[in-house]
Amino acid sequence: MRVLVLGGTHHVGRAVVEVALRRGDAVTTLNRGLSRPPAPGVEALVADRTDPDAVRRALGGRSWDAVIDTWAWAPRVVADSARLLAGRAGHYGYVSSRAVYAWPWPAGADESAPLVAGDPGGQDGGDYAAAKRGGELAVAEAFGERALLARAGMILGPYEDVGRMPWWLRRLERENFPLGMEFGLRYPGDPHPTGLHDADVSAALAAGLTLRPLRETLADTWAWLRREGDPAPRPDTPSPAQWFDPVQERHVLELARSLM
Ligand SMILES: NC(=O)c1ccc[n+]([C@@H]2O[C@H](COP(=O)([O-])OP(=O)(O)OC[C@H]3O[C@@H](n4cnc5c(N)ncnc54)[C@H](OP(=O)(O)O)[C@@H]3O)[C@@H](O)[C@H]2O)c1
Repeated sequence: MRVLVLGGTHHVGRAVVEVALRRGDAVTTLNRGLSRPPAPGVEALVADRTDPDAVRRALGGRSWDAVIDTWAWAPRVVADSARLLAGRAGHYGYVSSRAVYAWPWPAGADESAPLVAGDPGGQDGGDYAAAKRGGELAVAEAFGERALLARAGMILGPYEDVGRMPWWLRRLERENFPLGMEFGLRYPGDPHPTGLHDADVSAALAAGLTLRPLRETLADTWAWLRREGDPAPRPDTPSPAQWFDPVQERHVLELARSLM
């Protein structure tokens, strides 16, 4: 399969690239070439996505079976890419977010839960939920039934650059919590802590979502944290140390200890 990953050098996009390469897919990435070097084995195209003409020139006359887009800012950028690719790509997968569901999330919510408003032509990416919803609408407009909107909760894994989960793991380590304990089902410090993991994901399970024990996920997380040497979070995602109330933090740690 020929796969185009828009982004593709770190975190989610990079993981997609590596899985696709392992499957034997022919992978093209498109980014500015600033964050990290491209994964070995990809065809690396360079363009700034905020400049549609530059993207058009970089794509040239190529075509793909599937596109994966991880854009999280102004929806207009997704709209431009989706329109450019509609006639020359089979499917367009947009890595969206559970943030597109209007808060408060009803317990056991599924795909029919109310959504935030979004503008597919929006130039502003400041409101994360609205930007992701705008991106979804832009992809749906251009690709219709050939669009996949993947509304992820929290994403963790190698090349992580958000820094929240690593921060919490290091914090627990400093408190001498046993590594790998099953803590974190509720994501401490999340502004919506009670709603994170109570969704009805049966549609995703039917489509192939697989589950594994949290203990394994935590063990893997430690493995890649050690391998990558605690990557610094990107500047637009300050670590919980900068925004998490110390009294609340202490409460969470005491609660976790009482559960041990
Ligand atoms: N972390 C979570 O818990 C979570 C949860 C739900 C959903 N999500 C979604 O997951 C996605 C995260 O994706 P990600 O980690 O792969 O990457 P990302 O941070 O969304 O994007 C980074 C990639 O895009 C490229 N890029 C950035 N600006 C660009 C520009 N102007 N033109 C061209 N390329 C540009 C970067 O390379 P260069 O800098 O070299 O250009 C890099 O390859 C987001 O859409 C987010 O909304 C995350």
